[in-house]
Amino acid sequence: MGAQLTTISDRLQIVELPHAAAQTSFADDVRAGLSAPRKHLSAKYFYDDLGSVLFDAITRLPEYYLTRAETEILRESGWEIVRELDAPLEFLELGSGSAVKTRLLVEEALRVQGTLRYDPIDISLDALRASAVALVDAYPSLRIRAYAGDYFTVLAAPELRFETTVLAMLMGSNIGNYEPQSARALLRLVAKALRPGDGLLLGVDLKKDRSTLELAYNDPTGVTAAFNRNMLGRINRELGGHFDLTAFTHEAVYDEERGAVDSFLRADRAHSVAIDALGTSVAFESGERVHTESSYKFDEGGLAELGAASGFRPRKRWCDGKQRFAIQLFERE
Ligand code: AVI
Repeated sequence: MGAQLTTISDRLQIVELPHAAAQTSFADDVRAGLSAPRKHLSAKYFYDDLGSVLFDAITRLPEYYLTRAETEILRESGWEIVRELDAPLEFLELGSGSAVKTRLLVEEALRVQGTLRYDPIDISLDALRASAVALVDAYPSLRIRAYAGDYFTVLAAPELRFETTVLAMLMGSNIGNYEPQSARALLRLVAKALRPGDGLLLGVDLKKDRSTLELAYNDPTGVTAAFNRNMLGRINRELGGHFDLTAFTHEAVYDEERGAVDSFLRADRAHSVAIDALGTSVAFESGERVHTESSYKFDEGGLAELGAASGFRPRKRWCDGKQRFAIQLFERE
């Protein structure tokens, strides 16, 4: 099946791209991850309805400074960011951009050039449609061509076409949830879809002291712990799992060498858990950990390396007042 184009209005089109044939299901990934010698579950499964609400709550926690720091940069320097590349710009956002943060950049671009084309990419058609409809309603001079599909499929699709200078963006430290090799592969695909002179804006969390980082991922209110445990709740709901969520403790540990905060669920006692849809039981030793997420942190060298390995040269970087978070503008070579 090929791409499907739906025209919702003269300012809003949605292109749905088929799932890649090689894509595995939640059940396949849970089976493989929980039968591996070092158990793991993929962070992409955090975001069911409940997980998305919990993540939104995380972004409001005093300890999770990332979202506020990035918003501060956009408020202070958004005007400068949209003036760095040759106008007129169009935006390509990896993520569906319902957030305040996207709106700040959209408003700045509209101030400079009067009209704007915005192309968001998101795996969730519902999230994409909802945010796109809200944006065209809010901004009468905005045109949207939204792409529903995974980033890798959309970026390689012939349907992805641009008219002017492109400012691609991957905000919110989302690049930090990719293993370094996958991050480079993703950015290489972005580079391939762009032309020399186009830009890429990356929102990244900066390396810093262990206590600040570990507190951001292990808040005393317990929201991040609930977000992490919800992964097991999701297995219970969707795959007939029998996890007792109170038998697992949330752990977040900064690995300074890799520059990543790793999140785990640690079994507090030895026990087995049946998962009906998989027709299997998973045995846990006391203290055994399931890895659920890595959140990579960057410094100037790491950003330059990531850019160089993917076809981008650093152009300009903006930080928040406390130097905790950065928005890095790269230029496609
Ligand atoms: C979405 N992502 C950038 C968040 C992060 O910081 O890695 C997810 C998150 N996990 C725990 N807290 C927030």
